[in-house]
Amino acid sequence: MGKSSNVVWHETHVGREDREARRGHKGATIWFTGLSGSGKSTLANELDRRLYEQGRFSYVLDGDNVRHGLNGDLGFSPADRTENIRRIGEVAKLFVDAGALVLTAFISPYRDDRDRVRNIADRPGDFIEVFVDCPLDVCEQRDPKGLYKKARAGEIPEFTGISAPYEAPEQAEITVNTAEMSVVEAVDFILEYLRTGQYLESSSNQD
Ligand SMILES: Nc1ncnc2c1ncn2[C@@H]1O[C@H](COP(=O)(O)OP(=O)(O)O)[C@@H](O)[C@H]1O
Ligand SMILES: [Mg+2]
Repeated sequence: MGKSSNVVWHETHVGREDREARRGHKGATIWFTGLSGSGKSTLANELDRRLYEQGRFSYVLDGDNVRHGLNGDLGFSPADRTENIRRIGEVAKLFVDAGALVLTAFISPYRDDRDRVRNIADRPGDFIEVFVDCPLDVCEQRDPKGLYKKARAGEIPEFTGISAPYEAPEQAEITVNTAEMSVVEAVDFILEYLRTGQYLESSSNQD
């Protein structure tokens, strides 16, 4: 794939390990996937805040923001959704190489697209899939952006859960059911996974 030939990856003088050692934590992508309104943005931003307070290098990539800029040329057809996720995966990988904990909040409805992002990772453990599991009726009741209402009225074609499919992860590293867990409980649960998986070891801060 790719149209660019004669492009050679340039070795860097400062390596990922050097950056991680200085930061005191590993780089990784924490990939939130779930229906619209399931709580991806809410959890990613709350986790980001907690990590920031601990002095970590974290950053949120969120659907709407990325679609305004980098992926402003893409729509919601299956092919465009796939390309959307491919680009985000590549951006996330660069962040991980920079030693960041990058939190992505995209519906990312197709299993193959998410697996492709998982498979481009440099190291095992770089990609942590978080299934934000929430029943459709609860998401629809929340409807934080009024999108379900519009989708039901036929104003939004190809809306995930209504007129486009959502393929739930089969082996996510983490599943949080946001109909049953509070935001704080879900974020605590993810932080515990990062701690026990030694992503956050050798921190100068106590957490
Ligand atoms: N346990 C929970 N976890 C996450 N969000 C929750 C939870 N309970 C209620 N909510 C609410 O659900 C909505 C989720 O919206 P949002 O985070 O924008 O979803 P998404 O990014 O997945 O589309 C927010 O209004 C949030 O306050
Ligand atoms: Mg969101």
